[in-house]
Amino acid sequence: MRHFLRDDDLTPAEQGAVLELAQRMKAAPYDAKPLAGPRTVAVLFDKPTLRTQSSFAAGIAELGGFPMVIDANLARVGVRESIADTARVLGRQASAIVWRTFDQSRIEEMAANAGVPVVNALTDQFHPCQTLADLLTVKEHRGDLAGQTLVFLGDAASNMGHSYLLAGALAGMHVRVSAPSGFAPDPAVLARAQAIAAQTGGSASVVADPKAAAEGADVLATDTWISMGKEEQEAERLSAFLPWQLGDDLLAAARDDAIVLHCLPAYRGKEITASVIDGPRSVVWDEAENRRHAQKALLAWLLEHTDE
Ligand code: NVA
Repeated sequence: MRHFLRDDDLTPAEQGAVLELAQRMKAAPYDAKPLAGPRTVAVLFDKPTLRTQSSFAAGIAELGGFPMVIDANLARVGVRESIADTARVLGRQASAIVWRTFDQSRIEEMAANAGVPVVNALTDQFHPCQTLADLLTVKEHRGDLAGQTLVFLGDAASNMGHSYLLAGALAGMHVRVSAPSGFAPDPAVLARAQAIAAQTGGSASVVADPKAAAEGADVLATDTWISMGKEEQEAERLSAFLPWQLGDDLLAAARDDAIVLHCLPAYRGKEITASVIDGPRSVVWDEAENRRHAQKALLAWLLEHTDE
């Protein structure tokens, strides 16, 4: 049984295959119906959502399936019922489970007990569906991923910081993350990205100075400075992160044809200026759309590989 709990649950070749399938599905969105039946996919959120819920629901429907969106306030996974028992029940109703939750250990427990593929729709540590969509967007706008430089500015200890390191390394990209002190990536994730990059010809590094990090970038990415669950740290984070704001100065350090990514929701005037996110280098609406195409390809791929 294959799951997608973190970016490196796919090998570099498998990631490439999923991205190619996503491009084919985007070109012909109603042709492939691997969920015809309709087969059901359970979709649950322990944290807020807009893009993830809508893109999974639309994508599952386009694949010929039924998105069973479960109200997590009613299910209260791990409170009303254990994660393992929830997994056993949902695995008898659905062909796959998509879950947004807190600690990575929770989704690992779901996967260990579900008997169907489980997909990470964001945890505190990783957001691998977002980075799949991001790579699809880079591929569309800038061609082959291998050898390109992707720079993430912001909370490198967050799910997005970690997923960029792993997903970019798998694709053979040069990934630089830049964050204030205290917001460096988990050393184990950085080391894993570096080990992957050694195989793919990419690299993974932490560059303290945001301007030095942005220098010559093909892709500049940022994310909110206050991830879901960190709201009580808002004041201290806003002042610590200010030099990492993605504005015209940092954009000017990148290549002239660099593109700008943001997973959204965006806070203009905080992690990104309006001039950048609403400007000509921004591809964030393509990126948001690509959630659907990337996740469709991922679900189709996982369901083809359930015997592994
Ligand atoms: N790092 C952000 C991503 C939102 C899609 C968060 O966890 O809130």
